Amino acid sequence: MLPKKLQIKVEERSAINAMRKLKSSPGLIDFSSNDYLGFSSSSIIFNNTTQLLKDKNHQINGATGSRLLSGNYSLYQEVESKIAEIHKVESALIFNSGYDANIGFFSAIPQRGDVIFYDESIHASIRDGISMSNAKSYKFKHNDIQDLQNVVDRIKDSSNLNKDESQEIYVITESVFSMDGDSPDLVKLSNYCTEIGAHFIVDEAHALGVFGLGLIQQLSLEDKVFARLVTFGKGLGCHGAAFLVATDLKEYLVNFARSFIYTTALPPHSVGTIISAYDELITSEKSENLQENIRLFKSEIINKKLEAYFVASDSAIQSCIIAGNDRVINISLKLKENGFDVKPILSPTVKLGQERLRFCLHSYNTEEEILSLIHLLSTLLK
Ligand SMILES: Cc1ncc(COP(=O)(O)O)c(C=O)c1O
Repeated sequence: MLPKKLQIKVEERSAINAMRKLKSSPGLIDFSSNDYLGFSSSSIIFNNTTQLLKDKNHQINGATGSRLLSGNYSLYQEVESKIAEIHKVESALIFNSGYDANIGFFSAIPQRGDVIFYDESIHASIRDGISMSNAKSYKFKHNDIQDLQNVVDRIKDSSNLNKDESQEIYVITESVFSMDGDSPDLVKLSNYCTEIGAHFIVDEAHALGVFGLGLIQQLSLEDKVFARLVTFGKGLGCHGAAFLVATDLKEYLVNFARSFIYTTALPPHSVGTIISAYDELITSEKSENLQENIRLFKSEIINKKLEAYFVASDSAIQSCIIAGNDRVINISLKLKENGFDVKPILSPTVKLGQERLRFCLHSYNTEEEILSLIHLLSTLLK
């Protein structure tokens, strides 16, 4: 029997039809995974990694310990140097996952007396990291720079913002939001951060591979950000994540990020796969194929007059708002009966009334799949 308090939480969640279940959807057409470029099943990446591990004599199954103890084999440094070079930054520090990276970073960097401003739609891993730090944090409206300015001004008037010379300000956003698929105006945001002397931090989890090496690089903003996060479980189809930072910041994280220190390092196969996936990203045309599919999806939405349902997005995540857990579940089940895997995103994962079908597009979705999916969606919505 579950303890009573837990039982109540389960009952409350069941009552709104929002219990999470572990499911798999074999044989369906993939409009739900984060494997935007199909790299998770690339035999080129698999074979190159196997060869690389053999060539470099890394034929071991596990790291044997934390990187600060026995787990820091030489491939780690090679891969981190290569990632830093690719992303035009001084240093890269690999974490075991994006979740680990965010809780490690945000619990270690902002200090007591510092102030954090974050977009209200920021990922749970960043929220969890912030809640583990001793800094004060304030949210601003999603992708709304004017609201950020208002919040900053309000805090300046009401409290001690900038009165203490050692106080640091951090502004956090994502370059592609995981639920809406939309992006902030990164140029304006970075300029505003410069204006107020804030450190700008950008999570690029859903931009890497979708927009080449990420939006910060596409916009040449590398020097305007204090730290960037790239994750490898999405566009690169493998596992892990890296913070792209200055060398002194990397050294700080190695010393103070607890999710980096107190865990077994990734096995060589994971680290080798990261570099093979980067090689494939740089040499293949998968990003361009994905961009073509995004354009096709968006133009078909317009043809079927469905734009009003969709959050405006140029990324691989296209969200169709269908209020109510029951309704969105029903439509996703109908799509499933017709062979399409599209996940319903329910409240409380998103705000009440903002329940949605989250379409994830891929380089390997065919034109026919996209057209018949949207045709079916339009009949189900009308
Ligand atoms: C914006 C964002 N940051 C971080 C993460 C966590 O990354 P990982 O899956 O590697 O733990 C996710 C994954 O859902 C994400 O969407």
